[in-house]
Amino acid sequence: MNKEQNKIVAMFDIIAKRYDISNRVLSMGIDKSWRNKAVRKTYKLYDKDNINHIVDVACGTGDLMIYWQKIANNLNIKLHKITGIDPSSKMIDIAKQKIKDANFTKAFAQNLPIENNTVDIVSIAYGIRNVVNRAEAFSEFYRVLKVEGLLTILEFTKDEKKFWFSSIKKFYMTNIMPLVGKIVSGNSEAYKYLPDSIKQFVTSKQLQGELEKAGFKIVFVQDYSFDMNTTIIAKKV
Ligand SMILES: C[S@@+](CC[C@H](N)C(=O)[O-])C[C@H]1O[C@@H](n2cnc3c(N)ncnc32)[C@H](O)[C@@H]1O
Repeated sequence: MNKEQNKIVAMFDIIAKRYDISNRVLSMGIDKSWRNKAVRKTYKLYDKDNINHIVDVACGTGDLMIYWQKIANNLNIKLHKITGIDPSSKMIDIAKQKIKDANFTKAFAQNLPIENNTVDIVSIAYGIRNVVNRAEAFSEFYRVLKVEGLLTILEFTKDEKKFWFSSIKKFYMTNIMPLVGKIVSGNSEAYKYLPDSIKQFVTSKQLQGELEKAGFKIVFVQDYSFDMNTTIIAKKV
């Protein structure tokens, strides 16, 4: 992979041990509700009580995988196999301690070691922003999904509209987040990277356009918390 991509992964290797605690503090727990809603909506749209394979790309320490497993259980959905994929071995090591009955593979989103047309659901939570070449990743997601399979993306997107809240959000992301991130994780670079990467990232609309270009049909979009978080569900048609 290119230098920029390897640098991003090296940063996640460094913060892996403190990632969960930093994440909870910085998101103030709101991400739990975003994850819960995204997973429930995907299961509802997929509408099957037998699911063969879910692949969570950029799985990190595995939080979304836990939601896929728990909610499948609650809804009486038989989930046969779940695979977490991430290029950071340190993030995967933590996921392995938290999650049983799952497979893990070290790989990039741009090059998935998975056969064509075999996956029911691909997910990527707060990960696509770190993928340097998104078009390659979207083409991989499309390739591995079965026809009618779903792709669920959760991400912090750039806001489109100006809210009264925007300046508070900007202040939080530019000043508070790197400071709290530094205190909790011990690494200020990583938590400066987060707001910078959101500023450089696309809006929800632009992301949807890229997915359509890759052949997906957008079936659900929800922007939460003053467009801070976007959930997009797209179907392979
Ligand atoms: C912010 S964490 C998100 C982890 C997890 N999905 C969650 O919801 O908490 C981003 C993850 O993306 C991974 N990552 C970075 N570049 C990647 C790439 N090109 N392909 C796949 N994953 C990547 C990092 O190693 C890191 O674990």
